[in-house]
Amino acid sequence: MPYRRQAGNWDVVTFEKYRVEETVKANVITRPARKDALEAWSKPVVEAIGKAATDKKPQSFIQAYDNAIAGCNACHAAMGGGPLKTMSVYKITRAASPMFANIGVNP
Ligand code: HEC
Repeated sequence: MPYRRQAGNWDVVTFEKYRVEETVKANVITRPARKDALEAWSKPVVEAIGKAATDKKPQSFIQAYDNAIAGCNACHAAMGGGPLKTMSVYKITRAASPMFANIGVNP
């Protein structure tokens, strides 16, 4: 399924890839028990998203993005948190709109 908005702004993709890497670095410190699972998910996902941006390939990006989301949900199905036996209630889907209505990333 194509995205409604494809700005083709690969520099933003590369920047956000870096931000994900930084977030994961912090998360493995605050959640050491999750380190192995988190890195098993993040390393291939981040690499695939970065490669799609370097190659400027929208189809590769979409595939990498969907794989990332599938990984979120697979991990949530396998892990619990606090009173939740699994995190499956947190079902991630493709974003239907920008995270912040007042921040645009179009070139
Ligand atoms: C390594 C396994 C794992 C992966 C991968 C993962 N999560 Fe989670 N997620 C958890 C766990 C475990 C919790 C419960 C909180 C905790 O223990 O840190 C959680 C909690 C959450 C929550 C609940 C609110 C909160 O702040 O705790 C949200 C929202 C969430 N994850 C979103 C995502 C998204 C979006 C992705 C993918 C981009 C993702 N998660 C990938 C394991 C994962």
